[in-house]
Amino acid sequence: MERAFPSPPDFDRVARWYPWAEKVCAGGLMARARRAFLGETAQARSLLLIGEGPGRFLNDLLRSGCPARITVVDSSERMLARARRVCHRAGRRVDSVTWVRGDVREVDLPKRCFDGVVTHFFLDCLEERELTRLVSRVRDCAMPGALWAVTDFRIPSGPMACPGRALIFLLYAAFRTATGLETRRLVDPDPMITEAGWKRAARRCFAAGLLRSDLYRLASPGGDSGSDLQ
Ligand SMILES: C[S@@+](CC[C@H](N)C(=O)[O-])C[C@H]1O[C@@H](n2cnc3c(N)ncnc32)[C@H](O)[C@@H]1O
Repeated sequence: MERAFPSPPDFDRVARWYPWAEKVCAGGLMARARRAFLGETAQARSLLLIGEGPGRFLNDLLRSGCPARITVVDSSERMLARARRVCHRAGRRVDSVTWVRGDVREVDLPKRCFDGVVTHFFLDCLEERELTRLVSRVRDCAMPGALWAVTDFRIPSGPMACPGRALIFLLYAAFRTATGLETRRLVDPDPMITEAGWKRAARRCFAAGLLRSDLYRLASPGGDSGSDLQ
């Protein structure tokens, strides 16, 4: 059967060195951006982590004492293996987490099941068309009032725009070579997410705007999207 989308990038190839490359290239900056809304997301009862990779955020979550039922979706078996080890080391039973190896654009996701969704450094792997579809899939599997934490690279405005654009170009080129990533352009997911019924509750920027973390809340059917978080 013909696939609706091209194969996902092969992050198995980089799973071993990915955490080290992050440390060397970004120091603790990406970790800080991921943690921007850790407190809010850790309060969820049922959390979906998409494209979680080697489990950096999962580690923070488990060590924060988050009691949520957690589902992790990632297309890379080696990344999932690393995330399982993180889970074990954090003292949580590995089988208490639902591990889904698959392409999130296509795997079955239960409807209205999650009150927290996390996509850190994942949406920037998607083309605009895939992003639109993913946003609608995430909305379908989220409960009214759910939170969605999104962290990604951004092209900053002002004097950092040029260096930011160059850095992002290099990052895409590196991942294209290393994983076969076909995405070439960074798309801002914010308009799609808000159009799909999520209201931005908070935003934090890091590294002069090169990294951005947003927290969204899905409106309830009555139109109440909950109080803003700051
Ligand atoms: C850039 S890494 C980000 C990892 C981690 N979330 C972080 O904060 O560093 C992207 C992750 O998304 C996964 N991925 C990419 N495309 C995917 C897809 N279509 N479905 C599921 N996972 C995917 C990759 O295997 C990889 O682990």
